[in-house]
Amino acid sequence: MLGWRQIWSQSSHGSHSRVEDKRILLIIGGGIAAYKCLELIRRLRERGASVRVVMTAAAQHFVTPLSVSALTNEPVFTDLFNLDDEREIGHIRLSRDADLILVAPATADLIAKMANGLANDLASSVLLASDKPPLIAPAMNPRMWLNPATQRNVRVLKADGARFIGPESGEMAERDEAGPGRLAEVPVLIEAIEEVSDARRLATTVGAAGPLHGLHVVVTSGPTHEPIDPVRYIANRSSGKQGHAIAAATAAAGARVTLITGPVNLPDPTGAETIKVETAEEMLAATERALPADIAVFCAAVADWRIAEQGTQKIKKKKGEPPPALKLVANPDILKTIAGRKKGRPDLVIGFAAETENVLQHARKKLNSKGCDWIVANDVSAESGVMGGDHNRVHLIRKDGHESWKQQSKEDVATALVEEMAREVESSKTKAAGSRSARVKLGKS
Ligand code: C5P
Repeated sequence: MLGWRQIWSQSSHGSHSRVEDKRILLIIGGGIAAYKCLELIRRLRERGASVRVVMTAAAQHFVTPLSVSALTNEPVFTDLFNLDDEREIGHIRLSRDADLILVAPATADLIAKMANGLANDLASSVLLASDKPPLIAPAMNPRMWLNPATQRNVRVLKADGARFIGPESGEMAERDEAGPGRLAEVPVLIEAIEEVSDARRLATTVGAAGPLHGLHVVVTSGPTHEPIDPVRYIANRSSGKQGHAIAAATAAAGARVTLITGPVNLPDPTGAETIKVETAEEMLAATERALPADIAVFCAAVADWRIAEQGTQKIKKKKGEPPPALKLVANPDILKTIAGRKKGRPDLVIGFAAETENVLQHARKKLNSKGCDWIVANDVSAESGVMGGDHNRVHLIRKDGHESWKQQSKEDVATALVEEMAREVESSKTKAAGSRSARVKLGKS
């Protein structure tokens, strides 16, 4: 049987185009960058994909349905209430017929509609009727992109499985405006479409069940809060983005996932059972309760210490007295405890190491001292922007070597880690089958 990786590399580097015969539905939103879609359609068709297009009313102010239709060789769909279109294809079929839906340029308005499940025009209805998460390529004014409302909508869509391409940063069409908000360039859009096509082909080749089907994965995520008294606590800056992305990716790969998370501002990932805790002691207890597991990933930024004696009442300021001295005691090390279990240790225990210097050296030490199988190490120095940011540059450290991965989104780190897990599962199955047949040969079975 082919490993997940092998199928991936065959599909990625085969001689035929990675989007050949793919039916791509392109939803064009209203923005100046809509003109780039004409080039995109040409390049996709050259690669053997068929492209159907839905245009919003605003999009038609920037490019005409006539030019789009000339390039796709298909009618362009613009109106939810067009009787001919509804009779012949209908918005539900338009959505279901597509192998992949790309929204480009995705305006702030379209993103808000998608995040909230609105369906008051053809584009939003098609998106709501889809059973696959869309690819979204935003383009808008940087202030609109950075607006907390847009960022909130983006987080919701990501948690629902949508994949974002860009926006890129740079000069905007408006004078004196620069920042994040440019539509990704056509080659970048094509690369993302190809990657998603590969991943979906992979899922169908491996089986809809996914490469981690039948396995239980436990993931810890987020910070812990250690109370000082009923209103104050010690915390850290972990956002939980990486751990939540790992829970979502392992669930998407077919595993039963238990996510144990400290307090975060993130929606629960789709497909995982999410258990919410506050303190390190609660996280350890929840992790032990969640066992047995095949794989455990310890991504949480657990507080090293807690207050020795928590106040049962709010500690009062007292005039003329020095501030209270907080006595700390060590928290349990959840990773070390689980990795060191004699009985019921998960087969694969993965820890994280957040380091600010000598990342590889410190992480390797941690691999040994914690007794885990792999360490995912990252540079969390202030300059790296990893803490709370959307990107991560990590090194995967195993007992016999390490790999350094490129800087990528936390979702992509999660997907790459799932690939490695799937490969490990595959190779341990092969080893187990090999040793069974060796025992048979030696007459030991
Ligand atoms: O010792 P340090 O905090 O650097 O180790 C990081 C790794 O150990 C992470 O995988 C983290 O989730 C885990 N850890 C833990 N319990 C602790 C401290 C760290 O599980 N008390």
